[in-house]
Amino acid sequence: MSEQKFTPRVFSGIQPSGGLTLGNYLGAIKRFVQMQEEDFETIYCMVDLHAITVWQDPADLTRNTRELAAGFIASGISPEKSILINQSQVPEHAQLGWIFNCVARMGWMKRMTQFKDKAGKNAENASLGLFGYPALMAADILVYHATHVPVGEDQKQHLELTRDIAAKFNHDYGVDFFPMTEPVIEGAATRVMSLRDGSKKMSKSDPSDASRINMTDDADAIAKKIRKAKTDPDALPSEVEGLAERPEARNLVNIFAALSDRTVEDVLNEVGGQQFGTFKPLLADLAVSKLAPISTEMARLMDDPAEIDRILAKGASQAREITAPILKRTYEIVGMVG
Ligand code: TRP
Repeated sequence: MSEQKFTPRVFSGIQPSGGLTLGNYLGAIKRFVQMQEEDFETIYCMVDLHAITVWQDPADLTRNTRELAAGFIASGISPEKSILINQSQVPEHAQLGWIFNCVARMGWMKRMTQFKDKAGKNAENASLGLFGYPALMAADILVYHATHVPVGEDQKQHLELTRDIAAKFNHDYGVDFFPMTEPVIEGAATRVMSLRDGSKKMSKSDPSDASRINMTDDADAIAKKIRKAKTDPDALPSEVEGLAERPEARNLVNIFAALSDRTVEDVLNEVGGQQFGTFKPLLADLAVSKLAPISTEMARLMDDPAEIDRILAKGASQAREITAPILKRTYEIVGMVG
């Protein structure tokens, strides 16, 4: 067994199930953009096959896939620097997914907390795809021999499963073929909370639109939501500890820090002592200056779906230059006649 050298390669994916928020941007996409400037090959994916593990209206799925692609591109993911794809257009994901269905064990899958959360009380009525979801996710990553995967905290268990699948495959077939992928987990500081309740995550499924900033919101909507964000009556503290019991204040300061690429300490140095009446307009201006250009560019791209489709088709053919040889070698290792 020889020690294989793997090219530094980043893979990550987001489901095109509608509604990109500031949480997706600060918690994931911003990091995706940074990694494309580092010494990695970067592949970013709209995981449409994962989305249909729960019902998606077909017309919505098409629209949401293009909108997510527009969101990626408008946020700075460059089709020149990164490979941008939708999962179903690169068939090797699903093909390797099947092999991994035969590697992963029932016991491992039953421990996955996301399945339990998503299936809820009605697990008997959940799709088989929802149960197998993490094996396809492992295939997304390993069909590129990806070495690094930037994801939110909630995906940690799926990344551990990915390593378990790689290790069992390598062990069972006596090869050193799949890498042990490293998760790149965003810290809690980049977790964006609801603007109406600082203890809940900002979510596209919150019934109140005022609780979130959508990536499609225009300048007026962004400013208005920040002005109306829930706060407490006290002035901002000068030290981080002063935010401990103040979830709404902490959230707004975190958003300010993340949008301006500064630390929370640094921001509090400047704004400590301010009332929200002073701080909120500053935050609104900052958010508008960073986010309004993105929503404008998204809208422009969405007016030209043929251009988005061209970018995704090109991405798929670049991706397949990587995935086809890896799948072919996997089939040989398994003993498939080809
Ligand atoms: N499960 C991820 C999520 O819900 C999405 C995803 C699918 C993914 N395949 C992936 C993320 C591969 C990283 C790598 O957020």
